[in-house]
Amino acid sequence: MAQKACLITLEGLDGAGKSTHIDWISEFLRSAGVPLLCTREPGGTPLGEELRSMLLAHPMHLETETLLMFAARSEHLHTVIRPTLARGQWVLCDRFTDASFAYQGGGRGLGAARIGVLEHWLHPDLDPVRTYLFDVPLEVARERLKANRELDRIEREDAGFFERTRAAYLDRVRSDPQRFRVIDSSQSIARIREDLEQDLRALVAAHGPGAPS
Ligand code: TMP
Repeated sequence: MAQKACLITLEGLDGAGKSTHIDWISEFLRSAGVPLLCTREPGGTPLGEELRSMLLAHPMHLETETLLMFAARSEHLHTVIRPTLARGQWVLCDRFTDASFAYQGGGRGLGAARIGVLEHWLHPDLDPVRTYLFDVPLEVARERLKANRELDRIEREDAGFFERTRAAYLDRVRSDPQRFRVIDSSQSIARIREDLEQDLRALVAAHGPGAPS
């Protein structure tokens, strides 16, 4: 019997390389026998995906942006994340509340306290068991992004925005070092996978199928 279904989240600046590893992480967990749902924020529900399209396209006030991120998260928590965890299935979520602390709290300058109020409202009792923060120097992230495709509204922000966003992510790590693993995303893919594999194995041993009750 699984001990505890885990919420695992992936974070990082746009262009930090997290999407390169999502499929690999989910394959690894599934092949270890972990029942898993992969999802993302903003998004993960029909309403959340509509809110995502608006968030990434329309200019809006910072408070509106923050509240829409949390509105999408509320729907996601109520209809997907909590019911899935309650069934004993793990959830791998591409971004979660740390992204609001980093982007709206840090990048946009709203501050951590206001985000903390919304976090406390929505999920005072639920934190990811593990968060992988894919971290690269800003210039590397910017180069990777530009090479990819047309940028959305948030990706088009200036270097100062992403410096503040990265600093806010690193503040989150300092405030909860047990939960975070910072992945140096400028390393080779093979090296990153070695690091991920070691940590995922430990998580599965502690919480996965066959873990001691
Ligand atoms: P993605 O492209 O990694 O899926 O992320 C979509 C964008 O949304 C990305 O630029 C980060 C941003 N974002 C926020 O600004 N606040 C949030 O709370 C979340 C979840 C994402």
